[in-house]
Formats: sequence, structure tokens, C-alpha cells
Amino acid sequence: MLKVLIFGGSGLIGSRVRELLSLKYQIVAPSHLQIDVSNNKQIEQIIKRSKPNYIIYAAGLTSMDEAEKFPELAYSLNVHAPAHIAKFAASMGIPILYFSTDAVFDGSKSEKSYTEDDKPHPVSSYGKSKLLGEQMVMNAFERNCIVRVIMVYSRKFTKRKRFVQTAIETLKKGEKFYGVIDQVVNPIYVDDVVAAVDLLLESGSYGIYHLGARDYVTNYEFVKKLAKIFNLNENLVKGISFEEFFKEKNALRTKFCWLDTSKFRKKFGENVLHSIDEGLYLFKSNFDL
Ligand SMILES: NC(=O)c1ccc[n+]([C@@H]2O[C@H](COP(=O)([O-])OP(=O)(O)OC[C@H]3O[C@@H](n4cnc5c(N)ncnc54)[C@H](OP(=O)(O)O)[C@@H]3O)[C@@H](O)[C@H]2O)c1
Repeated sequence: MLKVLIFGGSGLIGSRVRELLSLKYQIVAPSHLQIDVSNNKQIEQIIKRSKPNYIIYAAGLTSMDEAEKFPELAYSLNVHAPAHIAKFAASMGIPILYFSTDAVFDGSKSEKSYTEDDKPHPVSSYGKSKLLGEQMVMNAFERNCIVRVIMVYSRKFTKRKRFVQTAIETLKKGEKFYGVIDQVVNPIYVDDVVAAVDLLLESGSYGIYHLGARDYVTNYEFVKKLAKIFNLNENLVKGISFEEFFKEKNALRTKFCWLDTSKFRKKFGENVLHSIDEGLYLFKSNFDL
């Protein structure tokens, strides 16, 4: 059984990796209290002690607005910590999978979704820190893997409320919820992320992979679909422009944050990443459990 060490195992993605893959892999997932990823000594000890076959870095400062407010913390958790882990792990021949984001792009590519070959150009502190994190991890070892994901949704209610949870809660209360009419996205259900990570680990894949739903919608259409699938009042979903919606946010957002997933699908087939509708139906079926 392969041993996988996860940092960020209590987070939205990390916790689902643990739930779904713990029968297949021996998973070691120290909590934040046990291991602070910015403490180099603790990091070295846990890697030496656990001797994993693979490391997943799913920790970090993941709120865009927090990263804008606290850029040093964003750099510490999104760049320096994974850089040190990757360097130390490489010295023991251990590859690392680093989660990154669509925010490494500036969102100006309106004609076609972003592929792994597109040149990143982040506009927020979060995006800049994640891109630098990617580069550090990639430079540490040729077997390392970068997985860029976009708007991951999950049944898990994390400390920080996410878009989909907020939308469901707001609509359930009978209040209106705004969807952005001119932002294009391909949100992905967390179980698809985990299934993809499983295949990437199993196959020893390296390099950059984009993960998202197979198709694309506007943010507004996405909330409409969500409302419909959860039998909530679709009339409460109101459209708003990108400029209007994000005008008071700390971090600059991106308009076309769509990730092209064909590299992954070409390698692993069409049955892993679902369409937006399929993802939402799967999400709902798990939500009701
Ligand atoms: N979710 C998305 O939609 C999305 C989209 C694009 C990219 N990503 C990337 O995917 C990765 C995982 O995202 P997520 O949404 O699952 O994150 P999350 O729910 O915010 O979880 C972050 C994790 O990092 C841990 N952590 C934070 N500071 C730490 C520290 N100093 N030492 C040790 N652990 C620490 C947290 O533990 P505590 O809670 O105990 O502090 C938590 O387990 C991130 O790298 C993120 O940038 C996510």
C-alpha cells in the first residue's frame, strides 16, 4: 500500500481525499495543531518519520481576500512552506502534488479556456503566491505534480464558507442570491478532484494538470442550475455584472477563469471529470446523505 502524507488534511479538498482514499492508500494527515507547515523542523521530522511515497500539499492561505490583506502570510503558506517541503522531499526522492488555482491567470482570455500551456499572469496576491509556489515545487523535482483546480464545491462545511454553501443557505432562507452574468467558470465537485488525484498518484504523473468540470457556464447560470437541482426558488437568483459584484472586494477577481481539462481527459478518459450538471447531481445525492 502506498503511503501518502497530506498537509491540509482538514481542509475542503484534503478532508475528502482522506475520506475517499484511505482504504487504498495509507494516509498520514497531521493536523495544523500537530504540524505547522511553516515550521521547517517539524516538516523535516514528519517526512523523515513517516517516509511517505507521496506528499500532497493541500494546505495554504486559500481565501483571496485574506491573501490580499496578509500577503506575507500568503507567501509563507503558499510559497515558502511548499518550497521547503518539496526541496526536503526531493532529497529523499519523494514527489509532491501541489494544489494550485485558476487565479494564476488574469482571466482576460475570452475566446477559449486556459490550457496548461497558457502563460500565467496572476493579478492578485493569492494568484501570485500560488504561481510562485508552483514554480518552486516544479523546480525542486522533475516528478512533482501541479493540479490547478477551480471553484471546488463540497458537502463539507469548512471554517470558511464557500460560494456554493452560501448560495444554498441563502436561497433556503428565501433570500435573493446574486450570480455574475459575465464571469465564465467550470466549478468542479470535490469527488472529481479526488478521483483525478487518485489517478495522478497511481500513474506517477508529473507536470501541470487542469481539473474542472468538462463544460463551462456563467457564474449566474451555475447558481440557477444549483437552485434547480436543489429544488430551491430559481427566481431568487439575480444577475449582476462582474464589475458591480466584485467592486468592494480586496482582491482583483478574474472574469474568464475557465480551465481546459483536455490534457487530463486525453490521458485518463472521459469518465472521471463530470459535466456541471452531472457534478451538481452527484453533489446533491451526497448532500442528502
Ligand atoms: N477550494 C477551492 O475552490 C480551490 C480552488 C483553487 C485552488 N485551491 C487550492 O487547493 C488547496 C486546498 O484548498 P481547500 O479549499 O481545500 O483549502 P482549505 O479548506 O482552506 O484548507 C486549508 C488547509 O490548510 C491548513 N492550514 C492552514 N494553515 C496551516 C499551517 N500553518 N500549518 C498547517 N496547516 C495549515 C488548514 O488547517 P486548519 O483549518 O486547521 O488551519 C486546512 O486544513 C489550496 O492550496 C488552494 O489554494 C482550492
